[in-house]
Parts: sequence; structure tokens; C-alpha cells
Amino acid sequence: MSAPTATDWRGVAAEDIEDVGKAVTAKLQARSRRLLVSLLRPHKWSVALALVYVVLENGAQLAGPLLVAAAIDRGVAGVVAGHPATLTWCVLGYAVCGLASAGAKFGFVRLSGRVGQDLLLDLRHRVFRHVQRLSLSFHESYTSGKIISRLSSDVESIDDLLDMGLDGLLSSLFTVVGIAVTLLVLDLRLALVVLAGFIPVLIVARWFRRASHKAYRATTTAVAKVIVQFVETMNGIRAVQAYRRHGRNEQILHEVNVEYRDANNRAFKVMARFTATVRLVGNLTMAVVLAWGALRVVDGSLQLGVLAAFALYLRRFYDPLDDLAMFANSYSAAVAALEKISGVLEEEPAVAEPAEPKPLPREGRRGEIRFDRVEFRYRPDTPVVLPEFDLHVPAGQTIAVVGATGAGKSTLAKLVARFYDPSAGTVSLDGVNLRDVADVDLRSAVTMVTQENFLFAGSVADNIAMGRPDATPDDVRRAAAAVGAHEFISALPEGYDTDVRKRGGRLSAGQRQLVAFARALLADPSVLVLDEATSSLDVPTERAVQAALETVLAERTAVIIAHRLSTVLIADRVLVVDGGRIVEDGSPADLIGQHGRFAKLHEAWLESLA
Ligand SMILES: Nc1ncnc2c1ncn2[C@@H]1O[C@H](COP(=O)(O)OP(=O)(O)OP(=O)(O)O)[C@@H](O)[C@H]1O
Ligand SMILES: [Mg+2]
Repeated sequence: MSAPTATDWRGVAAEDIEDVGKAVTAKLQARSRRLLVSLLRPHKWSVALALVYVVLENGAQLAGPLLVAAAIDRGVAGVVAGHPATLTWCVLGYAVCGLASAGAKFGFVRLSGRVGQDLLLDLRHRVFRHVQRLSLSFHESYTSGKIISRLSSDVESIDDLLDMGLDGLLSSLFTVVGIAVTLLVLDLRLALVVLAGFIPVLIVARWFRRASHKAYRATTTAVAKVIVQFVETMNGIRAVQAYRRHGRNEQILHEVNVEYRDANNRAFKVMARFTATVRLVGNLTMAVVLAWGALRVVDGSLQLGVLAAFALYLRRFYDPLDDLAMFANSYSAAVAALEKISGVLEEEPAVAEPAEPKPLPREGRRGEIRFDRVEFRYRPDTPVVLPEFDLHVPAGQTIAVVGATGAGKSTLAKLVARFYDPSAGTVSLDGVNLRDVADVDLRSAVTMVTQENFLFAGSVADNIAMGRPDATPDDVRRAAAAVGAHEFISALPEGYDTDVRKRGGRLSAGQRQLVAFARALLADPSVLVLDEATSSLDVPTERAVQAALETVLAERTAVIIAHRLSTVLIADRVLVVDGGRIVEDGSPADLIGQHGRFAKLHEAWLESLA
């Protein structure tokens, strides 16, 4: 009769969400576990030895109060009766236990430290290696700030766990269990009083585990936000200063910073409640044990030494619970970190290496590119950027791609270099689908020179040699000379050895462009893709760059996204792109004659030069 009420409806939805939540958590845990197991596997013998050390250390530690009890109850009586042997044995035993415990502690800390550091080394290496290989599409959504926080704060959380948490956990567990058993053996009734105190502690511990996990997950998320905000501001520091964005950035940082502080405060509050409760229960138990124990000593049903042992054990019984709390904290932080890191590590490259790569044909200089019914969109949920099209670029041809901003020129270029795979259709090089070409083959066959002209820290020579790591200094010089960069490089403070990041090594936009050309020339690819920088260069530099370009283009296929008339005019063929479609295709001369878009563009260029 009645439609489901709002509450019914919401109830169902909430349940569904909870189910999904549970499934996600289970998946996260499985993922973290896989990572942890794979990290620990190479160290399994060291881990086993560390466990032996822990047992030894805590066993020796546990024997202490027993020896004290024996010394008081039997040793002292023995001395009075003229037999000092028992007391001597107790004292010697105590000393030996102390030595053994210290030695085992030393062994454990050293060993666990070494294993921990090896494991972290491995982890940082894996994250870096993997992230570096992930496709562009990953890096577009996953900022460098996030990656830095994975490599820094998240790895650090795991470090904390390994350094302190694990030691605390193992020792605490052994101590608590060992003491509980010893107390039960020493005096059942008094031990039950002590164990009764454990019930409220367990209840609080259960609450604590959940609360601290939540609190710590919040802190790792918050610290990641702080790092992201830092990194993004510094990456864009030029824009920040040019547009006076300081205020807004400081406000954003303040917000995430406060969030981080509050998350930490919540975590501390949880911790404070737990440790205070444990301390209270511990002290109350001690009071009860002392009162009742003393009464029983008086009526003769308990030996004085046993009461002393109880008092000594009790102090050690509740203290480890603080360590357990510490462990729970670092464990929560580390679990949250592991979840994030394993997420990155299990990210599949969108542009995957083929399982069975096909070789590119070797003979002769090739470089024929074919787009066959290619359609492209950046993500399944975004609009098509390049609607279906065919394109054939014969080997050796130089193609200039022109068109308005946002037309899809860079996108087309990125498909040639396989930074992305087409959403439909195939892009092939010398008759081989790019999806089937091994990465090494692809990178040596196709070089993309982007607008960024990125220089890495190192010398100018290193930056040029990046194109071919086995190049000799002479090769580097020849390449630089061929593109006309030799002159300015020689004029740098230390010539080819000048550090491009140091003072005096900073290069101008035009110089960076020339270095990028020398790098590409040295790499000697069969296909060169060049996304020309839009920024206009001064006339002498433009001439130099132009001459360099002609050298680099000789005898290879080239796709140039051209922003300058001089570049377009050296091309064999021009493609005019509009809204992702190739609307004109022909030699520069033909297109100028056709009075189409290119002709208009050409006219505008000429006017701007006049
Ligand atoms: N990584 C990306 N994710 C989603 N959409 C993108 C991405 N890169 C570009 N686009 C979109 O694809 C379209 C084509 O962009 P593209 O970079 O190919 O243009 P362009 O012709 O190179 O422009 P310009 O001359 O300004 O460099 C644009 O609408 C742009 O918004
Ligand atoms: Mg572009």
C-alpha cells in the first residue's frame, strides 16, 4: 500500500555502503599483507633469529623476581642456619640472567634494526622504480606531492613500527604472558585478583585499537595533504610569485596544517585515555595485592618472598601495556601507510609493456607511421578528443601539425610516442602495432622532444648524453656542434662540465632547446616527435634553432607541432587540426594555394612579421 519510507530506503543504502566498505577494507588488507610478506620473505631467517633473541631476553628477565623470592624465603633462612649456598646460587643466577638478558637485547636490537633498514631500502626502491614506470595518465592524476608523501612520511611510519613498535610488541607479549603464567603458578588466588584487573584493561584495549586506528589513518591522510600543498607551491613558485598567490596558498596550507595538528591531537587524546586507564587499573591492583597479600603473610598462608615477587612482577605486568599501546599506534600508522604504498605498487601501467614483444624491422632506415581508425579520449568518462581518423606518414617525411590551442596537436604527438594507447584502432610503426613493441625498442625508435626541454641535475654533457648513454665525449661535442650549441656551451664557466643547476649553468629557453636537439640528434631515432615551444625566440636564436632543427630532421620521420612559420615551411607536409579532426592535409605550397585555413594562418604570420 505504502511506498518504502525514507528510513527504509536509507537503511538499505547504508547497509549496501557498509558492505562495499567491508569489501574494500578486506581488499586493502589483502594488498598490504601481500606487500608485507614479499618484503619479509628474503629476511625470514633473520626474523626467526630475532624471535629467539626475544624469547631469551624475556625469559631471563622473567626469572629475576623468582630468584628474589627464593633468596628471601630460602636463601636468607639458609644463611641464618649456616648454609649460604642457596643464597649464593640465587645471587649468581640473578647476575647470569641479567647478562643473558642484556646480550639478547643487544642482539635483537641490532638484528631487527638491520632487517628493518634493508626492508625500507627495498620498499623505497620499489616505489620509486614502479612510479617512474607508470604511465603519464597515472602522473596526471597522482601529483608529485602525493608520491613524495608515499616515499617520505609513509615509509617513515613503517620505519617507526620496525624500529620501536615491533620490539615493544614482542617483549610486551612475552612479558605479559610469561608473568601471568608465573603468577598463577606462584599463588593461584592472588594471581586471580591480578588477572581480574585485566578485564577492564581488555575492554579499554578493544576500544583503543579501533579508535587509534581511525585516528592514525586521519593523521597519515592529513600529513599527505600538507606535503602535497608544500610541493605544489614550490613547483609553481614562479606563478605563485608572479600572481602574488602567497596569501591564498598560506591559507590553504594553514587549513591542512591545522587539520594535521587536530588529527594528531585526537590520536594523543585516545592514547592518553588508554595509558591513564591502564595505569589506574595497575595501581589499584597493586594496592589490593599488597593489602590482601600482607594479611595472608600475617596469617601464614603466603610467604613474604612470594609477595615480594608479586610486587615486582606487577610493576612489569602493567608497564608493557603502555608499550602495547605504542605498538598499536605505530601499527595503525604503518597499516595506513602500507595501504597507500601497496596501492601505488599495484597500480598497473595504463600503457603496459607487451608480454610478447614483436621486433621492429631492422634493415634500412625506417620510420613509417600509420594511424588506423584511431579514436582517442583521455579517460573513459571524458569526451573524445580525437574522433576516428586514419593517417599515413611515409618513412622520412617531415610533417608539421598546426591548429588552434586545444585542437589536439599534442595529443596526436603523444599517441605517436605511445605515451597513451588509442581508445580504438591502432597506431603502428613500420607495420608493427605500438602495443606490441618492447619499451626499449620504442624509446630508441621514437624520441619525443617536449615543450618542457627538461634538464636533469648534472653537467651539460650528461644532459646531452642522455640520448645515448654510451656516447663518448667526442660524440657529445659533435652532436652539440651539429645543432650549433657548441659555441655557447664552450662559453659556460666549465664548458661541457658545467652543472646546469648551479650558478652560471642556468640556460635560457633557446639554449635549452638546443641542448634538447643535441640530445635527440645523439639518440638518433627513426621518428622524432617535436612539440615546439610556443614562446618566441629572438631572431638570432630563432635562426640558430631553425638551422639546428634542419640538421636533426634530416633523414628521419618527423612530426612537429609547429608554432613558427619558419618551421612549417621546412616541412614536406602540413596537417591542420581543428577540434581533433584533420581538416587540411597537403604540402605547404599547395595549402597556401587553396585559400583555406592554412592559407589564412600563413597570411597572418606574414603580417605579424612585416
Ligand atoms: N591529460 C589530459 N587529460 C584530459 N584531457 C586532456 C589532457 N590533455 C589534453 N586534454 C584535452 O584534450 C584536448 C586537446 O589537447 P592538446 O593538448 O592535444 O591540445 P594542443 O592542440 O596541443 O594545444 P596547444 O597548442 O595549446 O598545446 C583539449 O581539449 C584538452 O583539454
Ligand atoms: Mg600542445
